[in-house]
Amino acid sequence: MQTIVLGVTGGIAAYKAAELARLLVRGGFTVQVVMTDAATEFVTPLTFQTLTGRPVLRDLFAAADGGSVRHVDLAREADLLVVAPASANTLAKMALGIADNLLTTVYLAASSPVILVPSMNDQMFAHPAVRENLARLEARGCLILEPATGELACGTIGKGRMPEPQQIYEFIRAAVAPKDYKGVTALVTAGPTREYVDPVRFLSNPSTGLMGYAIARALAERGARVKLVSGPTGLPCPAGVSRTLVTTAREMYDAVMGLYADCGLVIKTAAVSDYRPVEVSPQKLKKGAPRLTLELAANPDILKELGRNKGNRILVGFAAETENGLLYARQKLAEKNLDLIVLNDLTAPGAGFAVSTNRVQLIGKDGAAEELPLMKKDELAHRILDRVAAIRGAGDKK
Ligand code: CTP
Repeated sequence: MQTIVLGVTGGIAAYKAAELARLLVRGGFTVQVVMTDAATEFVTPLTFQTLTGRPVLRDLFAAADGGSVRHVDLAREADLLVVAPASANTLAKMALGIADNLLTTVYLAASSPVILVPSMNDQMFAHPAVRENLARLEARGCLILEPATGELACGTIGKGRMPEPQQIYEFIRAAVAPKDYKGVTALVTAGPTREYVDPVRFLSNPSTGLMGYAIARALAERGARVKLVSGPTGLPCPAGVSRTLVTTAREMYDAVMGLYADCGLVIKTAAVSDYRPVEVSPQKLKKGAPRLTLELAANPDILKELGRNKGNRILVGFAAETENGLLYARQKLAEKNLDLIVLNDLTAPGAGFAVSTNRVQLIGKDGAAEELPLMKKDELAHRILDRVAAIRGAGDKK
């Protein structure tokens, strides 16, 4: 588990840092909050303590357990130091190397990456003193997440607003992720497809795209160039990902085939409709007949088609099953010429469509199944990528 030291300084955006702490804890990080005295004027340490399960540290001179030196211990523990919000005052001290409180002292003692999220009034942010300090810190290797433009606490509109916690969280995840997919171009499909019956009705499934979007995001975090082909989901496109939106299985087929040549890795999470209505009524169908029969035609199996022209690509599929999961998943792995298949038992609690967690088994070419515990889809995305990285590594050695 990675440890993040979250420094909170005095600014109105300190309240948003509480939400950031919650997101980090939920994302599986150990979070140690360090507050400056000014920060405690805005939010109480108890808020952070309750969210992180750890006492907030403020005092440079309080004795640490076992007589060790607290700021050195903290600096050693940190896989990442994040200062959010970072006030003009703290930025100035960091730029100059002034160590007059626990946070600025930890900064000097830390060798981990540092992320700074400045937040202040727009005039202050534009002041040459702040610009110079930020430039100096950036030149020293600190990663700066620029403030957003918007309404500020002082009532004006300008650049200085702290980005939303979710955006900071994603920036942090990208910063701590290994860059083991650098140089890889990956194609991910996600979401359902819709097969229209008439202009207002369609056949589909409850896929929300969460799993596929989590994989696309994780790949981008790990340095890949990511192309996402997505059915209708309503999800925002993850940062650094290029997205093509499609509706039907045939549109997905065309989009995937158009992108396939450039990609060395394909992960197909999309829940593609296997059939479409033979006739699509140009007008809304009217009710009347007591029974209505829809004639369906088979859609192309996109992944199977990719498997036929695999070359030296790595292909990963998903299998959504309600019975005989292992048997069907192994069959799909062989039929579609895959390197890995992720078996989703749709009947397991907390797994499958429209939930933020999933429970899966990973089945490789040798047919052996690795059962993973129930976990968040974001975390699972990284576990799947760890497994794919091992397959890539084995391929390199051959
Ligand atoms: N898939 C695809 N094109 C299709 C159907 C499925 O590319 N027309 C892909 C899915 O994206 C997934 C894998 O094939 O990665 C398995 O999908 P799944 O729906 O579990 O199985 P099907 O092959 O459709 O077989 P069945 O519906 O009979 O279980």
